[in-house]
Amino acid sequence: MSSCDVSASILENLGLQPLNRGVFDGQQWLETSTRPFQSINPANKQALASVQGVDSDAYQRLLDNSRLAAQQWRMVPAPVRGELVRKIGERLRANKALLGKLVSLEMGKIYAEGLGEVQEMIDMADFAVGQSRMLYGKSLHSERPQHRMYEQWQPLGVVAVVTAFNFPVAVWAWNAFNALIAGNAVIWRPSEKTPLCAIAVQKICAEVMAQENAPAVLSLMSEAEPQFVEQLIAEPDVALVSFTGSSKVGRRVGETVAARMGRSLLELSGNNALIVDETADLDLALPAIVFGSVGTAGQRCTSTRRLFLHDAIYDALIVRLIKAYRQINIGDPLDESVLMGPLIDEAAQQRFFTAVDEVEAAGGELLFKGELPAQSGYYVAPVIMAAQNHWPVVQQETFGPLLHVIRFHDLSDAIEQQNAVAQGLSSSLFTNHIRHAELFLSAQGSDCGIANINIGTSGAEIGGAFGGEKETGGGREAGSDAWQNYMRRQTTTINWGNDLPLAQGINFGIEKKHGK
Ligand code: UN1
Repeated sequence: MSSCDVSASILENLGLQPLNRGVFDGQQWLETSTRPFQSINPANKQALASVQGVDSDAYQRLLDNSRLAAQQWRMVPAPVRGELVRKIGERLRANKALLGKLVSLEMGKIYAEGLGEVQEMIDMADFAVGQSRMLYGKSLHSERPQHRMYEQWQPLGVVAVVTAFNFPVAVWAWNAFNALIAGNAVIWRPSEKTPLCAIAVQKICAEVMAQENAPAVLSLMSEAEPQFVEQLIAEPDVALVSFTGSSKVGRRVGETVAARMGRSLLELSGNNALIVDETADLDLALPAIVFGSVGTAGQRCTSTRRLFLHDAIYDALIVRLIKAYRQINIGDPLDESVLMGPLIDEAAQQRFFTAVDEVEAAGGELLFKGELPAQSGYYVAPVIMAAQNHWPVVQQETFGPLLHVIRFHDLSDAIEQQNAVAQGLSSSLFTNHIRHAELFLSAQGSDCGIANINIGTSGAEIGGAFGGEKETGGGREAGSDAWQNYMRRQTTTINWGNDLPLAQGINFGIEKKHGK
């Protein structure tokens, strides 16, 4: 089959057409009046299909439906809400290979990673199903006699989930499944670069929702430009905006939502460092560095961007790293011998080239540059540069396979440099020294939301709470207690006695009989 036939059959098997409706109001796919926009395969720059985005009527309808659905859904028992997620998870399992291929096709990550992304949704569904029976609140002891206190968790209402191209489906699943079991309605605004992945997943959800007679709790709002999403973020009735993207855009989202006293959950830029000390097992460090820096063509928010190498292992590791990089086959992400696909688009390619020029101009030494494939996609060759942490280009997140290598002598100094960036998502130390590991994990260690030992910066499991500090935005999604972000906490005190004692022992001087 030609690559064109392959993509046509993937799309067809997922119910996608040459022209697709991109707005699902929770019940129906809406016809809109906007000019369709194209989804481009980054591996060959060809259009995969077109999508009709939202217009103002569709927007209003979607919002009204979501409000109503949230009111109905909040009265459905949480384990029953979990049942809907379980059924969606089953359908994702059944469609794993196809969806994995679609992710590769539209986003450009290799098929193994496309499968991993779909697995991440499935894992999240399983997690949320269990969590739906564990929306625990605390039982508290009142200071007053015959009083009982407890905390309970209530749904928020309508939740907007704005996702990025690099994880076109998994990050939605982290948010949507927690939000669903928590009793909310979810409006998904996917990246305009990966609308087909969102439509395919939403189609699967729509079938399950129809079968289960569920209210319009999952809806989809595709669009080519950030027009209606701006409106959505400002909407007083949207209780929570979960946003994944750059710190620059995320800051604006956070400000808009804060101005109306709404809640935001931000998962923004990372500038992740991996430190290798003089005791590290280089056989472990090496694959972790390579996966972290060239996996997903460096387009994960968790990608390894800065590599701190101790003097004692610097030369040996660089030699091995270059050898490993030489083996990286770049090309069509659906070709199973390929380890690195293209970047998402031309703008990303340009930003990558500019960043490489900037490191060079700052005095960076080129340690390695890969070979570009002969295809016409948005490919770049991975680059390793000896650099300095304080250079402006090293301080920023470049979404591509550009690895800055920095030499260090003293671990405390490496940790300090690692923390000396605006972002705070993920970090790793490779060491066999317990004191080094503990220092890294101590209060004066890594300042990131994720701090790993002998594991790379990317590839987190869903069971943990995912997110980062500082300009990464402070949000936590996926596992652990991240479900609480999709609920409001209510503290309840019940007086079952015959008196009304005041807290803090206050005597207000009114006796019960006065009221009689
Ligand atoms: C992202 O890049 O936005 O930890 C999410 C990881 C993945 C998720 C990345 N599980 O690399």
